[in-house]
Amino acid sequence: MSNQTYNFKDYIRVIPDFPQPGIRFKDITTLLKDGAAYRAVIAEMRDAVKHLKIDIVAGPEARGFVVGAPLALELGVGFVPIRKSGKLPGETITASYDLEYGKDVLAMHKDAIQPGQRVLIGDDLLATGGTIASSINLVKQLGGEVVGAAFLIELLYLNGREKLGDIDVFSIMTYE
Ligand code: PRP
Repeated sequence: MSNQTYNFKDYIRVIPDFPQPGIRFKDITTLLKDGAAYRAVIAEMRDAVKHLKIDIVAGPEARGFVVGAPLALELGVGFVPIRKSGKLPGETITASYDLEYGKDVLAMHKDAIQPGQRVLIGDDLLATGGTIASSINLVKQLGGEVVGAAFLIELLYLNGREKLGDIDVFSIMTYE
């Protein structure tokens, strides 16, 4: 692998007024389509979390899959998908979280995590923290221990970290 150092923010496309006026959407597709940069950012996440002795990585759909799954491979562990309810075929557990208007429900297979496993949650974005707080809830229901959460991007002004309790939180890029 090359030793090139990256300013990963250069690979994020900021799209004004999406999905609604006033929001500056951080588009990661411009990072993902560059194979070398994608590989480098996942390697940086791996290096940030490898000391946590992770048994398994979990990631929420859909963008959590494109971060969590390659990160799991880099760490040499398995991957567990967290899905919007109604998508997983086996027996599931669920956790709901508040959206601006209404609620969303996330689900995980009942046998996805064994009690005592050390779990890392991977996702593209930490915004309000609702998605990851729900993901932590799911892991805990199964007796797993969430030891950390890793993100490509953290929106500091939304204070999502405060919802995540006492775990290690890593983000590659932050926006104020
Ligand atoms: C986005 C993003 C995170 C979450 C962050 O997912 O990928 O999972 O929102 O927001 P929060 O910290 O306020 O919960 P989204 O639910 O839009 O689904 P997607 O990945 O399928 O686009």
